[in-house]
Formats: sequence, C-alpha cells, structure tokens
Amino acid sequence: MNEAVLRAVIKGTGSALPRNRVSNADLAAKVDTSDEWITERTGIKFRHIAEPDETTATLAADASRKALDAAGMSAADINLIIVATATPDQTFPASATIVQHMLGCNGCVAFDVAAVCSGFLYAFSVAESMIRAGSAKNALVIGSETFSRILDWEDRATCVLFGDGAGAVVLSAEVGPRGVLATRLHADGQHNQLLFVDGGPSTTGTVGKLRMKGREVFRHAVTNLASVMYETLDAAGLTPEEVDWVVPHQANARIIDATAKKLGLEADKVVLTVDQHANTSAASVPLALDVAVRDGRIKPDDIVVLEAMGGGFTWGASVVRM
Ligand code: UT7
Repeated sequence: MNEAVLRAVIKGTGSALPRNRVSNADLAAKVDTSDEWITERTGIKFRHIAEPDETTATLAADASRKALDAAGMSAADINLIIVATATPDQTFPASATIVQHMLGCNGCVAFDVAAVCSGFLYAFSVAESMIRAGSAKNALVIGSETFSRILDWEDRATCVLFGDGAGAVVLSAEVGPRGVLATRLHADGQHNQLLFVDGGPSTTGTVGKLRMKGREVFRHAVTNLASVMYETLDAAGLTPEEVDWVVPHQANARIIDATAKKLGLEADKVVLTVDQHANTSAASVPLALDVAVRDGRIKPDDIVVLEAMGGGFTWGASVVRM
C-alpha cells in the first residue's frame, strides 16, 4: 500500500438519542402488535422517539459536539458540514446550515444529502471526495433523523420498525495508511414505490407518511448489500477475511445476519444496535459506529466496512482503516 496518500481519516465519532426510550411492550399498548412479533421478525427491542423540542438539527448538533470532543477539535476547525437526512427540520434551509449556526461555525460549506437510509454513506463519500480534492480539511459528516414524525402510527407493519437519533463523524485530511480506502455507491430508481413517503412540497404540499413493501425491500437488501460489500472490498484490495468489523445499516437483524453469512463473516465481527435503536435511517451507521468505538470494540487501524441500503433504492459501502 502507498503510505504517502492523502486520505480522509475518521478522527472522532459522536451520537445522540432522544430522551424518550420506547420498548416493544410500550408500543403494543397502543398498536396491534407484540414484543414477540417485533423481536422475532426484526430483532428490535427499543427505539427512541423525539419530543417536540428534539429535532433532526438538535440531535445532529448534539452528536457533532461529541464527535468534535472525541477528535480534540472545536467547531472553528470545521470547514465542511454535510447532514444526511430524509426528515429535515424544514423543507429548506438545509439542516446542515441550522446545525452550523447551533455549533457556531458560520461561514463554512454546509448542505444536506438525501439518500434516505444510505444517506450517511452518500454524505461520507461526498465529504471524502472533497477532502481528497483539497476543498475541505476537516468535515463533519452527520446522519440525523426523526422518522417518528413521518410514521403512520396506524400502520403496524411500519411504525414498529423505526426510531429517531443522530450520529456524526469528524473526517480530516491526513497523509498515511489510515482513512477511507474505497467507497462504492449505487441507486436504482425503478424501485421508488417499494419504500417512499406519500407527500412532498412539489406534489401534495404535505409532509406525507412512510410507506413500505417490507418483504420486497428485504429481498433486495440482502442481495444488494452483499454485492456492494464485495465490490468495495475488492476496490480496496481486501478480502472479507481481512475485515475486523462490519458496521451495517440497522434495519433488521435478519438482513444483517443473512448479509454477513453471504460474505462468510462471523456474527461477532458485526456491530448490532438494531435491538436498542431500531431503524434510524441515515443515523443508523454513524450511531452504531460510535457505540462500537466508545465501548472499545473498534480500535485504531482496524479495517471497518460501513454499509447501508434504503429508499430509492440507494445502497453503498465504504471500507475504512480506523
Ligand atoms: O431501512 C430501509 C430498509 N428497510 C428494510 O430493510 C425493511 C425490510 N423488511 C423487513 O424488515 C421485513 O419485511 C418486515 C420486518 C418489515 C416484515 O417482516 P416479514 O417477515 O416480511 O412480514 P410480513 O410483512 O410479510 O408480514 C407477516 C405477517 C402479516 O400477517 P399475515 O398476513 O401473515 O396474517 C402481517 O399482517 O405479520 C403481520 N404483521 C404484524 N403482526 C404483528 C405485520 N406487522 C406486524 C406487527 N405486529 N407490527
């Protein structure tokens, strides 16, 4: 490996969860469901649901402050902020500009990326490209969502699956062996109608609610995720045996298990937080990454694969030397 390459290195991670933690039993008191069904079909036990004062931007700012602390940096060091979200505080301005103002680093580049559950991978890839191109030195890449606000609480097939939260990483330009080794992204718009929100500013003039054909999404997820992980590892010149940790999108423990099996990866190399957070869309990968960094599982120099798939469809993976 060429050691004298400029790469984007993860210098710190952070995450934030709403105060209100809701168990399956709590949900079963309001929705026609059961702890048994949710646990067996998804692996989910808890999710956090935002209170009115907790928004995509406030959660993103909290996660960012922790990531900055972990990186030993202040907001003034940041010259790029990208928020991946499908649930912005407002249709515009971009949530990234709201977060920027909350952090007090006005003036730097700030914008949102919309790729739903793959949003963090998309944002991560844009930030990494800008860092390698020399147009940013230190970037905050954030996935933040309040999906509880777009759930149809009468639809038990979807409302039990999602939660709110945020995760953030500080990515910095550094010459050396650490950093992002390869990223691959994909989208296939012919599957728009399998996972979507039935409203929007330019159509209904409303925010809309999430709709999903879960079984069909499931089928595509395992195939697409296994394939993009192989593709990205190959681009990095690595094999699945060389992977220390996979940090997958936390949609369903069964999807995560099936994908790991396709790659021949042991379950103890996979970071699983879906039981605690449910599906937090763009927040899920950076949230899970932060959990595993803070509890000491993911260590410097580990080879970590990030992967996600979501509405669009969009999907992608990134291989990082921590
Ligand atoms: O982040 C983006 C990616 N999203 C995903 O990856 C989600 C992918 N899909 C999935 O995770 C799974 O398809 C689900 C967890 C959504 C559903 O699991 P499934 O095994 O595909 O179940 P199903 O939708 O086929 O429903 C099976 C049964 C149905 O009853 P019948 O028709 O067999 O009598 C549903 O009505 O389960 C019933 N059901 C429920 N029962 C209790 C659906 N939702 C619930 C519920 N509680 N919450």
